[in-house]
Amino acid sequence: MNPLALDLNEKLSKSNPNVADMLSDLGKLIYYPKGILSQSAEAKSTKYNATIGMATYSDRKMYADTLNDVFHHLEPDEIFPYAPPQGLESLRDLWQQKMLKENPDLKKEDFSRPIATNALTHGLSIVGDMFADSGDTLLLPTHNWGNYKLVYSTRHSVDIETYNIFDESGNFTTDGLVKHLENYEKDKVILILNYPNNPTGYTPNKEEVKVMVEAIQSLAERGTNVIAIVDDAYYGLFYEDVYTQSLFTALTNLQQENLLPIRLDGATKEFFAWGLRVGFITFGVNDETTKQVLEAKVKGLIRSNISSGPMPSQSAVKYVLEHPETFEKEIQHNIDTLQARYEVTKSVVYDEKYKKFWQPYDFNSGYFMAVKVQDVKPEELREHLIEHYSIGIIALNATDIRIAFSCIEKDDIPYVFDMIAKAIEDLQAKSE
Ligand SMILES: Cc1ncc(COP(=O)(O)O)c(C=O)c1O
Repeated sequence: MNPLALDLNEKLSKSNPNVADMLSDLGKLIYYPKGILSQSAEAKSTKYNATIGMATYSDRKMYADTLNDVFHHLEPDEIFPYAPPQGLESLRDLWQQKMLKENPDLKKEDFSRPIATNALTHGLSIVGDMFADSGDTLLLPTHNWGNYKLVYSTRHSVDIETYNIFDESGNFTTDGLVKHLENYEKDKVILILNYPNNPTGYTPNKEEVKVMVEAIQSLAERGTNVIAIVDDAYYGLFYEDVYTQSLFTALTNLQQENLLPIRLDGATKEFFAWGLRVGFITFGVNDETTKQVLEAKVKGLIRSNISSGPMPSQSAVKYVLEHPETFEKEIQHNIDTLQARYEVTKSVVYDEKYKKFWQPYDFNSGYFMAVKVQDVKPEELREHLIEHYSIGIIALNATDIRIAFSCIEKDDIPYVFDMIAKAIEDLQAKSE
């Protein structure tokens, strides 16, 4: 059991042993992780807060005016009634059209109509309820989003195995995945493929995608049941010549026996609408009965959990999809702003003078980048940066930190990295 859960249970046994006795197995296992959210909370009052998974200007969140204004345009009937568990039908169609437009290689008949979820985490949880049993294996890159552990390991007792997506020099590599899959001998695996990646901001290029997809295909051909979850939270935030269709498309086009591609995407990051809680779950299957059965099962899971998603948010996303003219320009403006920040970040972090402080991991997309820091503990560095430099970063593990350039104004980026270098120097000097 996680030490944080143990601690909560011990406290509860002392404060209220009766309630402690009432907890279910999951009630005993669940805890609130000391992950990104608590590190973000500690960085709340910093001047340069590069911890959060949102996009901000120095004085406000980055959003689209059309979406901000949308509630003035909605009728009461688009706000107050229940939405159906599967989401508004017209919204589902609009999202499907968006998928087809952005993924020219995808054929409409090859995948199910997207079902609305209460954003991506809810989709991950639905997939867990539907496909994960205790003892199953979840295969993740070493660099992954921390919440996968809570969703799959804590709630469903799956075993997590990891593989590296970066070599010693910080360059992206497909070797880790390929080798892991070549040596994989169990009859079932759940994969999460998350590109643009949180926490490193990397998206593979066409050739790399080809290698990854072939490795997954050959595992399925060998008879392993492969549930391939494509977490497309940061879809569309591409700044270089990468594979800009979803990995879901590449996997779905295989129509491979034993392989179930599942796409999770949504308005959260794509539409700069984190709090609206609108996401989608889509299955890469082409058979009508399978599509209907999977939809009925997902509806059952939604009905038995949140009953249905929020009508105002779904109507808002529907509205902007129906009125794309200005909205698309606003979103592009935000993406351009992030791209400009990405370019400054890239020009700064590879500077020779920082070599003794960190080694960057390849990045080309999304909100974040990560570096391996030299001779300092990320957690000490994080605390030092808050205390002495008013800078918030995320300590990822024993060697790496994550910096959200999505939350730092372009002109401040050189200063922020300079101060991170200075803070590392302070700590390096202290330990000498
Ligand atoms: C990789 C990844 N997947 C999923 C999510 C969750 O998205 P949502 O807020 O839509 O639940 C996040 C949010 O930070 C994320 O980084």
